[in-house]
Amino acid sequence: MQVMLLGLPGAGKGTQAQRIAAEFAVPHISTGDMFRAAIAADTPLGREVKPYLDSGRLVPDELTIRVIRERLQQPDTRAGFLLDGFPRTLPQAEALDAMLAEIGRPLNCVLYIRVPREVLLARLTGRRICRQCGAVYHMVFQPPVTPGRCDRCGGELYQRSDDTEEAVATRLAQYAATEPLVEHYSRQGVLYTIDGNRTVDEVWHDIRNILHDVRGQG
Ligand code: AP5
Repeated sequence: MQVMLLGLPGAGKGTQAQRIAAEFAVPHISTGDMFRAAIAADTPLGREVKPYLDSGRLVPDELTIRVIRERLQQPDTRAGFLLDGFPRTLPQAEALDAMLAEIGRPLNCVLYIRVPREVLLARLTGRRICRQCGAVYHMVFQPPVTPGRCDRCGGELYQRSDDTEEAVATRLAQYAATEPLVEHYSRQGVLYTIDGNRTVDEVWHDIRNILHDVRGQG
């Protein structure tokens, strides 16, 4: 299965991606996670993208496309993959179409998680992430049992540097570039729209059913 998650920052893409990757055994490919790992490791890529992530601006298309092209050449993607946060602009979507046409494996499902913009600020500023295993929490909506500690592995929870009110406002504004993607994938007949303004389990219930159906058709 070649699956992609589309949605505004805070829509719940990362939260649902962890469940999808576990249930359907596909690698979770998140451009945001790849950029953050490069920043943490202080690589040349990390140094180049850091100013963009810190301020909430999009990384230039050319650089982002190169990172994904290299990642999709890894052998673990042969049985399928889950893209999270890429593509995010029309040029990125067109580049992805070309890459997938080359390997003869088009996207068979784009899950568009819709959440009203006014809900997103509260979701993002309250988000906490486990430093060790990457599990995602929310101080109010999905709190850990022990404050500041991961339920799964006991790791320390931290706040992303771009989850400040200022950076979130920039990220939400940048997302206008993503709107044409809804039309792009709708035309390809692979778009599934999901109401993301419900509990994590309710959203997962719908996504799981869609993906089982899509896999059954494949
Ligand atoms: P990226 O890491 O992709 O961030 P994003 O798109 O802004 O999305 P988020 O990870 O913030 O949100 P999410 O939808 O995954 O929400 P989550 O599940 O965590 O990108 C970061 C940066 O990298 C960009 O700003 C850009 O600079 C750069 N970048 C990345 N890709 C790029 C590209 N393709 N092109 C150019 N630049 C790129 O949930 C959020 C919170 O809500 C959590 O606390 C969670 O617990 C809670 N929550 C989730 N679901 C629910 C629910 N149903 N009910 C209540 N709370 C919920």
